[in-house]
Amino acid sequence: MVAGNMRAELARHYDLEPSLKAAEATAEIHARLARVMPFADWARHAPYVLAINRLKRDRNAVILAHNYMTPDIFHGVADVVGDSLQLAIKASEVEADVIVQGGVHFMAETSKILNPSKTVLMPDMEAGCSLAESITPEGIAEMRARYPGAPVVSYVNTTAAVKAASDVCCTSSNAAQIVAAMESDTVIMTPDQYLAQNVARQVPQKRVVWWAGACIVHERFTAGDLREFRQYQPDTVIIAHPECTPDVVNEADFSGSTSGIIDYVSKHRPAKAMLVTECSMASNIADALPEVEFVGPCNMCPYMKMITLEKILWSLHTMTTAVEVDPGVAEGARRAVQRMIDLSLKAAK
Ligand code: 13P
Ligand code: SF4
Repeated sequence: MVAGNMRAELARHYDLEPSLKAAEATAEIHARLARVMPFADWARHAPYVLAINRLKRDRNAVILAHNYMTPDIFHGVADVVGDSLQLAIKASEVEADVIVQGGVHFMAETSKILNPSKTVLMPDMEAGCSLAESITPEGIAEMRARYPGAPVVSYVNTTAAVKAASDVCCTSSNAAQIVAAMESDTVIMTPDQYLAQNVARQVPQKRVVWWAGACIVHERFTAGDLREFRQYQPDTVIIAHPECTPDVVNEADFSGSTSGIIDYVSKHRPAKAMLVTECSMASNIADALPEVEFVGPCNMCPYMKMITLEKILWSLHTMTTAVEVDPGVAEGARRAVQRMIDLSLKAAK
């Protein structure tokens, strides 16, 4: 649907004009993002937030939102927020009829795989991921031929078909645990070469080999940039996502999944923090941590940013577009994702 047509059609059903009255009615939500969005700006978002939250009740729907969603989505309409692992676990537990995925396509597929009887809606089917696009089941077969007998650990940032061709999945929060739990000395990790190299350092007892994919958001950060930044702001605590290169992770004070990053900053509350990851991360936690000044560069994920309040409203209004996964593929993918969840929960005990 062309943006202009979508807007016109939605305006026939909902009052979506900027409204101070709507902003006042949702002032409690605005208080959670006031540091990053002036009240006048919130007046543009509030009508959408009210319409979506009403429609969610009518449709018996929940919104699962990744930590990279913009603050209006993260604080305004999400029922569950989290990193990839947390969202996958929550998706498997959803009792509502409909899941709207605030995130990218592989996340919606994972929700469908784990809870197949639910309608899983993707507000924009084009919201992909450079990692998921970098590998196919043929690539997995190629790696298996190159390293016979070695298990394949695939990042959840992959298509259902790639998951089905893998032995087990991992996310950034459990990758080292999953690799360590493999019985073989050699472990194949796909498709993120940098996550694999970072894990290889954490699990020296394994020989980790990898596929050469990369995240277009995280590979742009350089260790040189971080060193230069530290020269001028030496008191900054630097926290990097493990999709960054090992050089960048080396320069950081801490590395972890998106929720790991949030937990670390919330616990340590440094005066200055640089989150070497997607830009919405700092925006989403800025109000909860007023004593922390977020400094330095961040990069936007063009795919995550395709998800907007308008598209979420359209998705719930029209009940499109539902994500479907071939049942045979889903069964194989479910085995790999469930094995990951079981190993993570076992390690957490
Ligand atoms: P997390 O699992 O850390 O949330 O990462 C997902 C992702 O796509 C990061 O780029
Ligand atoms: Fe994919 Fe990188 Fe965007 Fe995460 S940030 S969804 S890994 S492109």
